[in-house]
Amino acid sequence: MADPSSIAPINPARNLADAAVSPVAKSDSQTAVSSAVAKLYDTYPFPPEPMLDEAPPGYNWRWHWPSAYSFCTGRRPQTDKVRILDAGCGTGVGTEYLVHLNFEAEVIGIDLSAGAIAVATERCQRSGANRVTFHNLSIYDVEQVPGEFDLINCVGVLHHMPDPIRGIQALAKKLKPGGILHIFVYAELGRFEIQLTQEAIALLQGNQRGDYKDGVQIGRTLFSTLPDQNRLRKREETRWSMENKRDECFADMYVHPQEIDYNVNTLFDLVEASGLDFVGFSNPQYWDLNRLVGAAPDLMARAAKLSDRDRYRLIEVLDPDLTHYEFFVARPPLEKTDWKNDETLMNAIPERHRCIEGWPSKSFFNYDYQVVSLSDEEFAFMQNCEGDRTVSAALEGTGLDLEGVRVLQSKQLIMLTPVEQ
Ligand SMILES: C[S@@+](CC[C@H](N)C(=O)[O-])C[C@H]1O[C@@H](n2cnc3c(N)ncnc32)[C@H](O)[C@@H]1O
Repeated sequence: MADPSSIAPINPARNLADAAVSPVAKSDSQTAVSSAVAKLYDTYPFPPEPMLDEAPPGYNWRWHWPSAYSFCTGRRPQTDKVRILDAGCGTGVGTEYLVHLNFEAEVIGIDLSAGAIAVATERCQRSGANRVTFHNLSIYDVEQVPGEFDLINCVGVLHHMPDPIRGIQALAKKLKPGGILHIFVYAELGRFEIQLTQEAIALLQGNQRGDYKDGVQIGRTLFSTLPDQNRLRKREETRWSMENKRDECFADMYVHPQEIDYNVNTLFDLVEASGLDFVGFSNPQYWDLNRLVGAAPDLMARAAKLSDRDRYRLIEVLDPDLTHYEFFVARPPLEKTDWKNDETLMNAIPERHRCIEGWPSKSFFNYDYQVVSLSDEEFAFMQNCEGDRTVSAALEGTGLDLEGVRVLQSKQLIMLTPVEQ
């Protein structure tokens, strides 16, 4: 179990904001903190993305069930008829993608803020995302939603809960065995200037804290008044100001009544307390030590002896611009396939990954919107990946070998369904 004090808020004094009780708070252990959080998002529903009368453009593979499952297990899921929960859905930007990207899924969104739920409902109605229901409910009370889920998405929420361990444990109970949970929480290293700015605004607000509009106005005045070269001002201008043009984003960043920022150690304490298995970070490029010290084989050899947790810690201390963690955890048992066995691979059914843009072409955008270029052999094979034949049949006449198929799978360019023998 994690020691809750080890993941205590950076600035505990900020936790107790005013306690204007909303209907939700009554079912949310009556806590003043949750009331303050609901009030923030009722005032500034987040994210403030415009609504569309059609499906939102593009994709985020983390919200596409087969892609997320394949990333976690190496194999395509057996069914797309799944239940998905967007826990702390805010104004429904992610929820809307979850509905439009997963044609057969039933989606449920819950959020503490009635204001955010109202926006999410309208957003989904307007874009025709109709396989979704919303509830104005706290994650602490998620057991009130019937049934279990194959995929839970919880982005930007746990770090705003007064007791994230209780939050993640409540979500863990709603996962099916073999179900996966995607989490995004803040990292302390890259948010240092944000923490200082938050504290400065809170000090200047004094007993007006909890008046979020006042906090935003103070913050904006601060940034236009501090000297040009001031560290807090420079960080805001160079890193955040584009997204903070909207007051909703500025408020979410600088006047939040409740925020816990993690480091690798406290993050893994949280995961451990959930009872779920850590599967992997969903931005694996950052967690590749090779990009930092790969040019020094001796350092790489030393690092190879570290535990996973220590290696991750090494990476974040070497590259401390990190502002968040995004990762999957799973309720065991989660069956994984590594495709090392030639026969299993030859009999599997390959499909092109759904989250690619620009196909058919030898150069296109991959699941992370990075440009990839295929060899002639890879291109010929991928053209055969229609989900209607085995790897062995799809390889015929292409010049690609099984190792090449493994590479395409590991790069998430194809998905593989094992065929039971
Ligand atoms: C930063 S927003 C993220 C919204 C959405 N997940 C996204 O990424 O676009 C945080 C959301 O979490 C919600 N929230 C905070 N505490 C919660 C809780 N205990 N239960 C449910 N939702 C909560 C807030 O009301 C807010 O809408």
